[in-house]
Amino acid sequence: MEKVVWGVLGASNFAKNRTIPAMLQSAHCRIEAIASRSLEKAQDQADRFGIPRAYGSYDQLLADRAIEAVYIPLANHLHVPWTIKAAEAGKHVLCEKPIAMNAAEAETLLDVRERTGKLIMEAFMVRSHPQWLHARELVRQGRIGDVLAVQTFVGYNNVNPEDIRNRPEVGGGGMMDIGCYAITTTRFILEREPQRVMATIGRDPEFGTDRLCTVMMDFPGVQASFICGTQIQPSQRATIHGTAGSLEVEMVIIPSPDRPARISIREGSPVDRVKSETVTFDPVNQYTIQTDLFCRAIREGIPQTLPLENSIANMRVIDAAFRSGESGQWERV
Ligand SMILES: NC(=O)c1ccc[n+]([C@@H]2O[C@H](COP(=O)([O-])OP(=O)(O)OC[C@H]3O[C@@H](n4cnc5c(N)ncnc54)[C@H](OP(=O)(O)O)[C@@H]3O)[C@@H](O)[C@H]2O)c1
Repeated sequence: MEKVVWGVLGASNFAKNRTIPAMLQSAHCRIEAIASRSLEKAQDQADRFGIPRAYGSYDQLLADRAIEAVYIPLANHLHVPWTIKAAEAGKHVLCEKPIAMNAAEAETLLDVRERTGKLIMEAFMVRSHPQWLHARELVRQGRIGDVLAVQTFVGYNNVNPEDIRNRPEVGGGGMMDIGCYAITTTRFILEREPQRVMATIGRDPEFGTDRLCTVMMDFPGVQASFICGTQIQPSQRATIHGTAGSLEVEMVIIPSPDRPARISIREGSPVDRVKSETVTFDPVNQYTIQTDLFCRAIREGIPQTLPLENSIANMRVIDAAFRSGESGQWERV
């Protein structure tokens, strides 16, 4: 397969530390350009990774006719505006999560996709990690009986006022940064949508961003909940509880690329002795897998890992959680 020629919009820290090195490991991807508002920053990353062209504006990169696809690791409020510009410039788009500031903004991308014929995908790499695919397979096979509940915790401690996560005007806050993962993994495992949502949202008095959210999601036949915190002891875990057992995914978002990821399966009851099994997964780079699959969607037409409609459904849950945080009531999704 001929490699897809990529450009990167923004000299983001995360792209520098994780995604660009991962994309460069993909057999199907060649990064030929990077753009930043600062040419110096773009040049610095270009030099670091041997990327041939650096641009001092995002528009310049979009005018580069050799670029077929762009990766967008910009601050959240810029995801939709630059996805639209990129697709209109004839580029396929892999955009960081959350794809938009809300569901209504995400929905505008449907028309853009239709009009331009370009692929647009939100970079929820967890959905192609083998651990989540396996967990969903175990649930499908009925390994833990009928699933009745899902419980997720995701948290870190970050009080840097400069960080985009602590700036509401650029789409910061815990729900948009990590709560969105708890929603997407729960929807992925359950393969259905929540009907209503109830949330308690605690905000940082200085930043104004949500720093602690507890969210209940009422799915048909399943009750799910998550806590996400941004000023809390770093930890992650998801437990899926069924009538005959439970599954625990240790690292919900970013399993180490160097150590095996693990899922624990528990059957039986504490009284009769729990039977426990741990499934381990060889370390993989989930960002490389994501890139491989997106390149194949472009070249070979395989289905996108995450269709845009699914991303919009995720945003609807986030919107309902924010509404519930305000109203103190259950909110319909
Ligand atoms: N999938 C994952 O595992 C994962 C992990 C971490 C982050 N992310 C996502 O990646 C994105 C970037 O996160 P990050 O941690 O890399 O943040 P970051 O270092 O602050 O990068 C954001 C980039 O946005 C650009 N930007 C343009 N206008 C901006 C403005 N007004 N304010 C702030 N930035 C502006 C900047 O690029 P220039 O200055 O170069 O133009 C900046 O480098 C976010 O959407 C985040 O949700 C995903």
